[in-house]
Amino acid sequence: MPDVDEEKDRERLDALEEQMKSIDRKIDAFYISLLPVLNRERSAHPVKIEAGMQTKLPQPELEPLQTQPRIQPQMQIQNKNYRVKDIGLAEQGKLKIEWAERHMPVLMRIRREFETAGPLKGIRIAACLHVTKETAVLMRTLKAGGADVALCASNPLSTQDDVAAALALEGIKIYAWRGVSSEEYYWCINRVLDTRPNITMDDGADLISTVHSKRIDLLPTILGGQEETTTGVIRLRAMAADGALKYPLFAVNDTPTKHMFDNVYGTGQSTMDGIIRATNVLIAGKNFVVCGYGYCSGGIARVAKGLGANVIITEVDPTKALKATMDGFRVMPIADAARVGDIFVTATGDKNVIRGEHMILMKDNAILANSGHFNAEISIPDLENISAGKRRIRENVEEYKTKAGKRLYLLAEGRLVNLAAAEGHPSEVMDMSFADQALCAEYFAKHAKELEPLVYDVPEDIDLRVARLKLESMGVRIDALTEEQKKYLQSWQEGT
Ligand SMILES: NC(=O)c1ccc[n+]([C@@H]2O[C@H](COP(=O)([O-])OP(=O)(O)OC[C@H]3O[C@@H](n4cnc5c(N)ncnc54)[C@H](O)[C@@H]3O)[C@@H](O)[C@H]2O)c1
Repeated sequence: MPDVDEEKDRERLDALEEQMKSIDRKIDAFYISLLPVLNRERSAHPVKIEAGMQTKLPQPELEPLQTQPRIQPQMQIQNKNYRVKDIGLAEQGKLKIEWAERHMPVLMRIRREFETAGPLKGIRIAACLHVTKETAVLMRTLKAGGADVALCASNPLSTQDDVAAALALEGIKIYAWRGVSSEEYYWCINRVLDTRPNITMDDGADLISTVHSKRIDLLPTILGGQEETTTGVIRLRAMAADGALKYPLFAVNDTPTKHMFDNVYGTGQSTMDGIIRATNVLIAGKNFVVCGYGYCSGGIARVAKGLGANVIITEVDPTKALKATMDGFRVMPIADAARVGDIFVTATGDKNVIRGEHMILMKDNAILANSGHFNAEISIPDLENISAGKRRIRENVEEYKTKAGKRLYLLAEGRLVNLAAAEGHPSEVMDMSFADQALCAEYFAKHAKELEPLVYDVPEDIDLRVARLKLESMGVRIDALTEEQKKYLQSWQEGT
């Protein structure tokens, strides 16, 4: 039996703790109410107070806040047909591609068919995709079909330099190296467009928006375009709604064999891979906040749960939030999740999902990562604003020291963490996405003239073929409808 004094002490301690928490909440609320005023004044009068300043920590040596220069390639190799970081990396890249090929049976089967039939003979394809080993397998397949291919990267940090070197040596026109500046990024896009493509292949719609804004001279020879990701499809549908779209497009992302697998299992596994490679923190037991409960974010949440994290979801869509709740996740607004999260991951396709007002509430040592297409989901300007300094503490990890003395860790500069800090999706899942891409290119080569400048769904027979081939490669057999069942499923007469 605990003695009476001990119990009273414990009660007093609990009451004191509750009082402290309530004071903390009041202080935070007070400083949050001040933030708009402080932000306005900040440029003229450097501000020293902000919410969370009660956290007193030892002061490390900090660099003054400034944009860190990117690590520039030691040696950029350029000739007319390629510009890569180091052509000497080609052998290593070749091995990586070979590894991917062994895990992409569907695309390899399509390649064999392409070699025989040559459906892309005389077609020039410009691709702006993440330059990974899986993309290399797609480029080789398109080339095997007779296409003349040019490739640049769809994100400044997603190029695997060894893969780029291997492709350059194989005669594929490639302009890509990890760490391009914004200016270099568009330089690469323009070199790819200089090949006067008949088909554009995008991941994020930067190629197609450049064609429609700055390279309209290319429009007459373009048959069609293909878009790989959710954000790109959203941009393209907006262009179509504005009547701005000038050639037909396939929304490859929206076909089931793409988004139901690539976005869910691919992003789920590779995002966690990126976070773990960058930080090596233990996921089990952490409060792991996932912003969004869509295809990608839902996949991330499930992998985090599988690793033993306490997963918290934030959403804006009531149906998705309800689904997350019934799937067993805690759901709350980001302002509440900010106080308790250890790791935060965004994958919404939206902007400014995590802002300064949330960052100031975060715990010391909180980790922030993004897996959505653009680095706009975590407000980096806000993070810079609330910080006194930053330093690179590990590869792909930036430590921000807030003016209140907390440390927040931003992974991969807020860019897609799965591609910047790891290798992107596993080959097995890209097998299906890129099989869809290859078959859509073949479709354009045959049927482009029948299509309007609209955003089209991938033809169902392409999607079903990819699903069947994937099942076959996995040795999985399924049933077929009997004639009786087919008839029954199309009739209304039979009931109770
Ligand atoms: N990292 C990768 O390799 C990879 C792969 C595929 C797609 N993507 C990108 O990931 C992003 C998401 O794609 P998706 O297919 O999952 O889209 P989705 O539409 O299925 O899911 C997005 C979810 O985010 C929610 N959301 C929007 N704004 C929000 C906010 N402010 N707070 C909380 N939730 C919010 C939406 O309601 C929706 O449920 C896109 O940018 C897409 O291009 C990345």
